[in-house]
Amino acid sequence: MFKDIFAQEPTVSVCAPGRVNLLGEHTDYNGGFVFPAPLPYQTCIEAAPQEGLEVYAENFKETKFRDLAVGKKGDWLDYVAGCVWILRQQGYAVPGLRAYIRSEVPMTGGLSSSAALQVATMRALRALYNLPLDDKQIALLAQQGEVEYVGVRVGIMDQMASSLGKPGYALFLDTLSLEYKLAPLPKGYRVAVVDSGMPRRLAEAGYNTRRAECEEACKELGIKLLREVSINDLPRIEALPEPLNRRARHVVTENARVVEGVQALEANDFRRFGELMVASHRSLREDYEVSTPELDQLVELELRHGAIGARLTGAGFGGATVALVKDSKYEAFKAGVKADYPKAGFY
Ligand code: GLA
Repeated sequence: MFKDIFAQEPTVSVCAPGRVNLLGEHTDYNGGFVFPAPLPYQTCIEAAPQEGLEVYAENFKETKFRDLAVGKKGDWLDYVAGCVWILRQQGYAVPGLRAYIRSEVPMTGGLSSSAALQVATMRALRALYNLPLDDKQIALLAQQGEVEYVGVRVGIMDQMASSLGKPGYALFLDTLSLEYKLAPLPKGYRVAVVDSGMPRRLAEAGYNTRRAECEEACKELGIKLLREVSINDLPRIEALPEPLNRRARHVVTENARVVEGVQALEANDFRRFGELMVASHRSLREDYEVSTPELDQLVELELRHGAIGARLTGAGFGGATVALVKDSKYEAFKAGVKADYPKAGFY
């Protein structure tokens, strides 16, 4: 607790959740559609105002200090510092903060523990310094801080999911207009998050390469964003040079899957939603090439042990999968997957 470390009471106490993406992978930086849901795991911050940063992380049992004149250091404090930095860039008077951070969000990759930390930090700063920011602005500024301060060119999905998500609902977000709608999660089903136990390898490099390939495909097609093409343009897309044709094909088919998936959920057609998850995984494996043998194996086992849909979730290259399983089948599913893939972690 804050009091045990800093011998004073905190002024504010806030939380923000991690997320699991149900459908719509690698579409956000292409202006496309995403469909994430918040996790029941949060990052919580107790904080008080102060100059500069003094932050204790319970998970790492360490306090870190930073004078904000200094740039990023390659550690967890970058995500907190990036929030203060971007707010100052935008002209907000934010001296710093003294904080106690505790996170339940698994840090295994693909579940947005960093977005949860950023959104929680933004919420703490908003409360401490009465900043006139709504939840969308918080997400946008958190993302901008990650791109410009931390130096990773992420899209907007994770921060929006953490900032706008509601328990029990998935967030259908148009990343171009930033319009969104909440759709109830399937009743009688469990959204199972299963970690592969494999750290994400070369994820940052692979992510940036995919982004560059999408930009290249746009240039060839004479457009600004892949959002401007759809499955009606597939003949033009197939004619692009390798691998741009497959990268672009993933993005347009994935956008179509999100739109259809949201309709399927609204019509209580959970089977169809599951099929779309499976198609998404295949596309990520074959066209976008961000899966791994372990993720492929795990997805296959999940389907064999009763899931009606399963796919890798997040950027890929390791990390977690998401599966849709009937509540009544969940225990058997878990036992079956665990027996065949002992490294699996269930959330
Ligand atoms: C990471 C990024 C998101 C998104 C996904 C892939 O989670 O932070 O913006 O691009 O990868 O869908």
